[in-house]
Amino acid sequence: MIKKILLFLLAALVVIQFFHPKKNIEEGLSANDITTKYKMPEDIKTIMDKACNDCHSNNTRYPWYNNIQPVAWWLDNHIREGKQHLNFSEYTNKRPRFQYHKMEDIIEQVKKGEMPLDSYTWIHKDAILTQEEKTKIIDWANAVMDQMKTEYPIDSLVRKRS
Ligand code: HEC
Repeated sequence: MIKKILLFLLAALVVIQFFHPKKNIEEGLSANDITTKYKMPEDIKTIMDKACNDCHSNNTRYPWYNNIQPVAWWLDNHIREGKQHLNFSEYTNKRPRFQYHKMEDIIEQVKKGEMPLDSYTWIHKDAILTQEEKTKIIDWANAVMDQMKTEYPIDSLVRKRS
């Protein structure tokens, strides 16, 4: 019985190697990329590239183990979920309130040390943010919010508290 189950699992493992999720890769810069509207200095770009964009943009740099199933499904799941919450490649087409609020979310997540995900930094050690990098991201997010405040009336950015 045990042998049969093991054989079945082995066969399943072989079969799923033939099924791969579509890769999250886009040619060129998306028309709604965050950088088309908001300034993103080179040092912020570098940090985002190494620590955030694999899950929060339309371009993932895939590691070699993405060739192995079911690892590819697991990675794909994180990427989809990450993009659903925040996608820097599809940013400027969202409502101003959404764009503004995501900056608040970024500040919160980075302050709390919740992003990048632990499962990511286990392998991508260079994505562990130093205090200096955290401060840079937070300052940048605040600068984006300041820019938005000069362009939109405040009640289109934050809900009035009553
Ligand atoms: C390995 C993939 C991965 C990486 C890398 C990653 N994230 Fe995330 N992120 C997710 C997932 C998945 C979620 C949604 C589930 C959750 O909140 O845990 C998320 C949620 C978020 C949210 C919350 C959005 C909301 O709607 O509440 C913010 C903000 C965020 N990430 C910012 C960042 C920033 C900034 C970085 C880089 C410093 C980063 N993330 C790196 C996968 C990732």
